[in-house]
Amino acid sequence: MAKVKIMETVLRDAHQSQAATRMKIEEMLPIADKLDKVGYYALEAWGGATFDSCLRYLNEDPWERLRMLRKALPNTKLQMLLRGQNLLGYKHYADDVVDSFCRLSVKNGIDIIRIFDALNDPRNMRQAIESTKKYKGTVEAAISYTTSKVHTIDYFVNLAVELEKMGADIICIKDMANLLLPYTAYELVSRLKEKVKVPLHLHTHNTAGTGDMTNLKAVEAGCDIVDCALSPLGNGTSQPATESFVATLQGTEYDTGLDLHALNELTVYFKKVAQRLTEDGFLSPQVLKVDVNALIYQVPGGMLSNLISQLKQQGASDKLLAVLEEVPRVRADLGYPPLVTPSSQIVGTQAVLNVISGERYQMVTKETKGMLIGEYGKLPVEPDAKIVKKIIGDTPRITCRPADNIKPELETYKNEIAEYIEQEEDILTYALFPQLAVPFFKRRQAAESGIDKTIFDKENQVHPV
Ligand code: CO
Repeated sequence: MAKVKIMETVLRDAHQSQAATRMKIEEMLPIADKLDKVGYYALEAWGGATFDSCLRYLNEDPWERLRMLRKALPNTKLQMLLRGQNLLGYKHYADDVVDSFCRLSVKNGIDIIRIFDALNDPRNMRQAIESTKKYKGTVEAAISYTTSKVHTIDYFVNLAVELEKMGADIICIKDMANLLLPYTAYELVSRLKEKVKVPLHLHTHNTAGTGDMTNLKAVEAGCDIVDCALSPLGNGTSQPATESFVATLQGTEYDTGLDLHALNELTVYFKKVAQRLTEDGFLSPQVLKVDVNALIYQVPGGMLSNLISQLKQQGASDKLLAVLEEVPRVRADLGYPPLVTPSSQIVGTQAVLNVISGERYQMVTKETKGMLIGEYGKLPVEPDAKIVKKIIGDTPRITCRPADNIKPELETYKNEIAEYIEQEEDILTYALFPQLAVPFFKRRQAAESGIDKTIFDKENQVHPV
């Protein structure tokens, strides 16, 4: 019997997608014992935005959060999301930093690391895959799902086969933008099942109201694990609700084995958390409405809200439709990158500049140039030579793995914050989020010496997608 496994995302993607990643550790621990007993395949608990939010808004040490969750959830696997050579940050790190990060993530309690690359360049995932395996973590290698003339089923199957050869223990279809429709999911999973031996794990969202159907068709095609979020923080921009999916499969050959009564105790608890997040202005009922823009414009929800806010700042809110039409053109010019951090921001910002300046590529960001130069890795398609010439002129392009040009960095980071180091993990916190880490370390020192209670930095930055 093909029992289907559920990964619960309530501690990570659910509140990241619906409530600006503001769930606190104090809101997780009281329910940990019950979460631990449900029998989930895994709990997603850590990733770039949770790490960022801990430091930026919640005054929590993200590593300490992980250790507390590990202790409180002794029987359930903890999973995290990792952006390949970018780790949780926005640039490529040297291999020694990647290795150290994977080692300490596993040491502090992570069991499974979902590793992806925004461009689907496997070279950017290699070090993270090797290091995770070296430290006895489970590697879930993800294909970033998108649609374009090159992103065919064959393309994804070939990519998955390559990732399996590189050592993936599980292959994930990461549909971050809710573009994977039910029947395509059926076809994709069926084709992957023919070529890939390791289990398949699907991650989608319910932004366009298609998520449950996509999960169901994927399961019918043989998908082994799907992501769901408990209903108080499920559906809409988050994952499809856990309870509904468990009920749907009950008594069938795909039965998850999870008990609805046990889940309901969690539901009751997380309703109160969702209520708190609503009262504090982080969760709006708007995120629960079916939004077909995701399908029409093929942009992730977070990218859409960033575009709206960028245009508002420029006093050009009336240009939204023009920008949404420009996004696919910029994406084509840049070789069809999937729209996920950081490419979603790069393509989005360039589309805004192209529209408001009145002439395409009259203003070009450093990141757009970097993408064409090859700083982020190999583009899915070689861009048009004329566009390349126009944007980067005669700047030489790099064809090697970007991190091959980066010398070991760990010692430098360590020396830069020597005065604050209380644990080895601090070096990585600083490497990933230097502007947030130093104020955090200062607050920690002050609190320890009893001088002062925490004063939070003002919330003045747009949260990353
Ligand atoms: Co997601």
